Amino acid sequence: MNIITIDGPVGAGKSTVARTLAKILGYAYLDTGAMYRAIGWKVYVTGIECNDENLERLCANTRLEVNLTNDIQRIIVDGKDITSEIRTPDMSRMSSVVSAYEPVRRYLAALQRETGLIWAKQHGGVVVEGRDMGTVVFPDAMYKFYLDADITERGKRRWKELIDKGMEVDLTETIKKIEERDANDMGRSIDPLKKADDAIVVNTTKLGLEEVVEKILEKIR
Ligand code: DC
Repeated sequence: MNIITIDGPVGAGKSTVARTLAKILGYAYLDTGAMYRAIGWKVYVTGIECNDENLERLCANTRLEVNLTNDIQRIIVDGKDITSEIRTPDMSRMSSVVSAYEPVRRYLAALQRETGLIWAKQHGGVVVEGRDMGTVVFPDAMYKFYLDADITERGKRRWKELIDKGMEVDLTETIKKIEERDANDMGRSIDPLKKADDAIVVNTTKLGLEEVVEKILEKIR
């Protein structure tokens, strides 16, 4: 099965690189962070307290659909399309909070595995992107990459992304939030963000999108 995993911290360039790579190879692209955002969104709107028991019940009572419409991944929760709603700083924070809970990780890892395998079959391959793709969800993937970049560069990229969307955000504040999310994602006890032993590291600090994609294609070829 043609599965390529891309993991790494916020702002390392994972999603743009994964999307471009998938397009070049004709593969599907699965953004697993969006699925954590979906659960974070539901916790946010229902206002429940985060604990294992509540989150286990919430996951069991959630219909989370992930589908590709014209190559764009859509996230539908209990029949409501929340694809755009989950892209706010609040949802970034919420997704990172819920991702530390075991019932959420087990529920989403199973769904990610199932979706990734189906899409790989349908499209001839899949590029899966997240935090634990190479370590937990697809440990036998054909190729594994770990993207990283300096914190200042990652902050600038995320800040620009939010500004381009018309949000009023401060660069220093954005960097601080990324540092908090890094600490949460790398420091959690269950499936923390870390490089898989057999993953290839690409530092994207000084590289443009095309250069990163070219580096990855070189390894694959
Ligand atoms: O990639 P993203 O920023 O959309 O991810 C949102 C959060 O979801 C991230 O802070 C940590 C969590 N996440 C995770 O724990 N495991 C994944 N495979 C993907 C995301």
